Amino acid sequence: MIDSFTQIYGVFGNPVRHSKSPVIHNFAFQYYHINAVYLAFEPDGIGKSLEAMKALNIKGASITLPFKQSSMDYLDWIDEDAGAIGAVNTIVNKEGMLHGFNTDYKAAVEPLKPFGIQGKKVCIIGAGGAAQAVAYGIYKEKGRLAIINRNKKKGKTLAEKYKADFFSLDDTDSLLKIQPDILINTTPVGMSPNISDLSFPLEPLSPETLVMDIIYTPLKTRLLHGAQSKGCRIIDGLTMFLNQGAHQFKLWTGISPDIELMRKIMLKDEAL
Ligand code: ATR
Repeated sequence: MIDSFTQIYGVFGNPVRHSKSPVIHNFAFQYYHINAVYLAFEPDGIGKSLEAMKALNIKGASITLPFKQSSMDYLDWIDEDAGAIGAVNTIVNKEGMLHGFNTDYKAAVEPLKPFGIQGKKVCIIGAGGAAQAVAYGIYKEKGRLAIINRNKKKGKTLAEKYKADFFSLDDTDSLLKIQPDILINTTPVGMSPNISDLSFPLEPLSPETLVMDIIYTPLKTRLLHGAQSKGCRIIDGLTMFLNQGAHQFKLWTGISPDIELMRKIMLKDEAL
């Protein structure tokens, strides 16, 4: 029940109405009997919103596009991993001081850990904000990175940061050259409504490769469909989404929520 003690959490992004974070966090607050609500805010800029977090004692926030980098200028403290990645996706209001974290990188590597990352060839498609977090996580786990990207300058910059090989998306032989053990798509290619899009041909993909997508609308992207039909193991984007949300919830409440239960809730959500 909402009353005068109800604590406020939320996501700051623009656009934000597509966000599924309110679905999982409000479910978890109810499930774990925490008197809190989680709302979606769509501000033009992030500075005043973070001032408001302090003024209104908003306890925690998820930060999404386009504020993951700009929000860092307004925080009182930034965790070492978030600082190294250069992006924050989670804020905790600790007695009026805003602390910034990045749970995206953990969320990307955790589902891969059971398959082993150390020494494995891990190929990331894309070099945007999501790729930055994923590359950091893989590098930290001692995976051998290769980056494939459309924009060569951006791709090379990311590759240099993590001692990775770089390949242009135009190079149709890149997958054959890399022969990745793990392939991770971090681009929006294949995301609803453009679900038939694919940024590279799947013919060179080996059945030995584990393929992960960070897109979760649709749940099974064309990339994952194609990979599965070649015999590859696949990990869908909902896995990373739920993991990053679960880590946020832990930072805010100290509770590690049941991810499988959250997955069921998300799959029940009609918009997915
Ligand atoms: P995010 O911060 O969420 O990762 P982003 O900064 O828009 O999003 O980056 C997305 C990545 O997907 C970028 O590397 C982008 O490639 P460029 O660096 O060449 O811009 C890549 N990307 C986006 N649309 C793409 C497309 N149609 N084909 C191939 N790559 C694409």
